[in-house]
Amino acid sequence: MSHITEKTNAFLERAHKVMPFGVTSNFRWWGKGEGIGVARAEGAYIWDFDGNRYIDYRIGFGPVILGHGHPAVVERVSQAIKNGTVFAFTHELEVKVAERIVQMCPGVDMIRFANSGAEATMHSLRIARSHTGREKIIKFEGNYHGMHDYLLFSTASSPAGALGHRRNPIPSPTTSGIPKALHSLVITLPYNDFEALERTVRQAWGDVAAIIVEPIMGNTAAIMPQPGWLQHIRKLCDEYGIVMIMDEVKTGFRVAPGGAQELFGVTADLVTYAKAMGNGFPIAVIGGKREVMNSVGPGRTAHGGTYCGNVVGTAAADATLEIIAQGHVLKTIEARGKALMKGIHGILTDADITHHILGVPSMFGIAFCEEEPTDYRSWSKADSDLYERIAMALVHRGAVPDPDGREPWFLCAALSEKDVDDTLNYFEDAVKEVMAAQKPAGEAREALSK
Ligand SMILES: Cc1ncc(COP(=O)(O)O)c(C=O)c1O
Repeated sequence: MSHITEKTNAFLERAHKVMPFGVTSNFRWWGKGEGIGVARAEGAYIWDFDGNRYIDYRIGFGPVILGHGHPAVVERVSQAIKNGTVFAFTHELEVKVAERIVQMCPGVDMIRFANSGAEATMHSLRIARSHTGREKIIKFEGNYHGMHDYLLFSTASSPAGALGHRRNPIPSPTTSGIPKALHSLVITLPYNDFEALERTVRQAWGDVAAIIVEPIMGNTAAIMPQPGWLQHIRKLCDEYGIVMIMDEVKTGFRVAPGGAQELFGVTADLVTYAKAMGNGFPIAVIGGKREVMNSVGPGRTAHGGTYCGNVVGTAAADATLEIIAQGHVLKTIEARGKALMKGIHGILTDADITHHILGVPSMFGIAFCEEEPTDYRSWSKADSDLYERIAMALVHRGAVPDPDGREPWFLCAALSEKDVDDTLNYFEDAVKEVMAAQKPAGEAREALSK
């Protein structure tokens, strides 16, 4: 296997000199001497600076649902920007995309635009606080809602050992730099723990503005909601006048045309979308029920931003959502995802590696552990070193999931049946290589020659 990365490594060193760790997001840092510098991308592939081609299962952490540089999206954006990019007035594309979203997404009567997932969840908190007159937010361990200070607690980047007893969890800040005053505004709870949530809500509801939830744990290996979990949150929110926020930044327009609300048949009061709606162009949305969204407005609740609803993002969303609404794209992705999940399961079973494949075909995770994980605490018992070794062996062969097992595999519509077959062949070889390296020399030679 020849995998030369000389030019790419030189490029990464150059990046290092002008950006901390050579990256523009800590999540992109793979370790010294690791990582890929992207020279170009097309469809389901990225190429590095040495001309190595990789089948891309990160697709920008999820957004590129149609494939890199999708012609219809590029064309719509290119045409639209000839007539200006930002106006500080409402324009046609904003209304058109808003109408599309209201039509596609159950429970969404009105929307406002933002530019990133973090911005959307940040605004959703203010709307919920303003609507209820309460200040605390319940969030779940291992859920991630973006880089703002309000919710960077007990994410999958916080060590599981810092979360406290599960009956009395400690909100564990993911990073230095978060003001202490914010700690008291967050209540963290284990995902899928019906009893803990109910007990907490009954005790604290008078202070609780919102429960924010990822409908599938898109930042912890795509752990699924247990049957009834989202309905349980809905019921408690109804009973106690709490705003239910579904963070669909990863699931929106991916797990179904109407996102997780459609897939699971539960509608929240507020929903946040970003990633897949723009096929990689920066755009996001806060949407929801008319009654709650009507809290937004002059003299009521502040929302705004110079670039909210700009032409580039809305044109991309217009083209992307038009294609997703036709239905065939998500069906193709589902078929490819099912084949991958089945193939990976077979390879790991043959290699005698205890595992669970989590999530849905369009975004799935792999956990090496005995018990199927249902929350971040149980996922953290999985063998993440083994996952990383297999993932890196796969990268060296030409398919790139994130080597960090918390990040699911994301599929795009440009992925072909051949890409799936190639990936499974690479995966089988990668597993053999890693397992052989764990064995004494004689046994290893024998295993590799099979
Ligand atoms: C569920 C969820 N919410 C919010 C965000 C933040 O989105 P962005 O990176 O666009 O700010 C992410 C990012 O991965 C996410 O997965």
